[in-house]
Amino acid sequence: MCGMIGYIGKKPVVPILLKGLQSLEYRGYDSAGIAYMKDQNVQIMKEVGKVNNLKKHCQHLTATKMGLGHTRWATHGVANQVNAHPQRNSGVTIVHNGIIENYELWKQKLLEKGYQFQSDTDTEVACAVISEAIKQSSTILEGLEIAQTQLEGSYAFGIIVDQDPNHLYAMKQNSPLIVGVCPDGYLIASDIPAVLTNTNEYQILEDGDIAILSEQRVTIYNQGIEQTKNIQTFTEEIDQVTKDGYEHYMRKEIQEQPAIVASLVSEYLGDQQSHWSDLPDLTAYQKIDIVACGSAWHAGMIGKMLIERYAKIPVQCYIASEYRYQPHFLDSNSLVIVISQSGETADTLASLTLAKQQQAKTLAIVNVARSSIARAADQVILTKAGCEIAVATTKAFMAQITILSLLAFKTAKLQGLLSEKEIRQIEEDYKTLPLLLEACIYQGVDQAVVKHLATKEHAFYLGRQIDYALALEGALKLKEISYIHCEAYAAGELKHGTISLIEQETPVICIVTDPAIASKTISNLKEVKARGSYNFLIVTDQLNFESDVYQDKLILPSLNPLLQPMITTIPLQLLAYQVAKERFCDIDQPRNLAKSVTVE
Ligand code: AGP
Repeated sequence: MCGMIGYIGKKPVVPILLKGLQSLEYRGYDSAGIAYMKDQNVQIMKEVGKVNNLKKHCQHLTATKMGLGHTRWATHGVANQVNAHPQRNSGVTIVHNGIIENYELWKQKLLEKGYQFQSDTDTEVACAVISEAIKQSSTILEGLEIAQTQLEGSYAFGIIVDQDPNHLYAMKQNSPLIVGVCPDGYLIASDIPAVLTNTNEYQILEDGDIAILSEQRVTIYNQGIEQTKNIQTFTEEIDQVTKDGYEHYMRKEIQEQPAIVASLVSEYLGDQQSHWSDLPDLTAYQKIDIVACGSAWHAGMIGKMLIERYAKIPVQCYIASEYRYQPHFLDSNSLVIVISQSGETADTLASLTLAKQQQAKTLAIVNVARSSIARAADQVILTKAGCEIAVATTKAFMAQITILSLLAFKTAKLQGLLSEKEIRQIEEDYKTLPLLLEACIYQGVDQAVVKHLATKEHAFYLGRQIDYALALEGALKLKEISYIHCEAYAAGELKHGTISLIEQETPVICIVTDPAIASKTISNLKEVKARGSYNFLIVTDQLNFESDVYQDKLILPSLNPLLQPMITTIPLQLLAYQVAKERFCDIDQPRNLAKSVTVE
């Protein structure tokens, strides 16, 4: 997804746009651009790469009045200057976050009408659609309302129309867009951080809204009816997010995990137990689905296995982009739990909407309190991991699995499945957990493993049950920041074909923490060793053993299985981080990625 910003007011617009774009860069950074009104003409500047590339060419500009800015995560067309936003066609200039799903149909129609296009983007087609609609209308607003009926898909548009140099326009459908109310004018932005550079007062646009902004006022229409919107005030601490001396945000955020877990444990198990009641009683539901994407899905898999194993309640866990298109059997006795760090992931939000349409109760486990998913769910549990900047999630993932572990613990307790002694032991373990996480971070990972892995282009992660879900997360972490192709495999499944890929020195990271199935996984480790693999064993001190079945190993403290996943996560994060560093990768903003995927 992309980041977009617009401003109309008394202040010089270019510095506002550039500063806002830098706060939105986590949303995508393939290219960046601005459009600004100068002497009644729209000027456009755009560059491939990060906002700093753009800044070099335009920070001297002192244009005032109004403008648009955009930082892109490419969906249509390669990441080059022509496809960068703002896009302009036939007197209409647009910055866009989303996907116009019927743009090819309109492109064909408009080509037949004599329109010409420079870029491969759906956004440029939207410019022409809007221009054509305005030509057929008596007002620009009427033209935008016609365009709403023509464009399908998702869009948050910032729009400048040549014929009206005194207004900025905005349209919202299925992509987040807010209006910032400033002392000197108005902003539009994809997300709050871009607004906070000028004000903490904002209005949230809803689907179907068209906003018309001038220096003095903003007017919002929906289906031709003027809307009255509350002005909200952002009061949360926007962490003055800095690296605090760490080389990368990711490394800093790994370090923050013990404190975040300690805070969650205190909130849910501390003397006040102030949030214990927030954890839903899962026994009240006949059907429970967990739905998420990426690492959040891995967290959901861990939650599913913990709840089923310790609370004896069946839970299904789905990838959101699959869930939304499969048959559903939900009703008012169902609970759908969506997990999302950003709270803006399009497929997860769509799954939540679908669940609500089918009368299911919905719970969102999210990190961003004011996000679209948080606002749409019946109940919200905040992970309170703080602002997570690195694209590769660490502390938010840790908070997600901690909350899911507590949910499994509560549900087991409610059903009398744990003895008083077990309950006390588990509560003690939760209180010890932050210290053990600290120790595991300090222990780090063996540089020999890092150097071996950093020279390879393929790797495997193996595990069974919860260790398989952790293998999925470990593989994703390594892939997304070091660009090494790696697969996580259920250890018992590898021999059903994929073991053919094991060659001399192929790295295999094998996770063994569950006593009940440890011997099985070690057998799988022997199978790959027999074929020449380089084995790195991650094992608990309780299961540790000496053998030539591994070249290197890392021993972790043993904890109650409800808490073991949080411990095992640490070396997986550190291994990915160290290998990516060894390979001089852009760790906080890996190529092709964005922090939140608000497109399908
Ligand atoms: C994780 O490191 C990735 N950045 C990605 O898989 C992420 O977990 C996924 O896109 C889901 O994002 P969300 O938690 O904001 O919904």
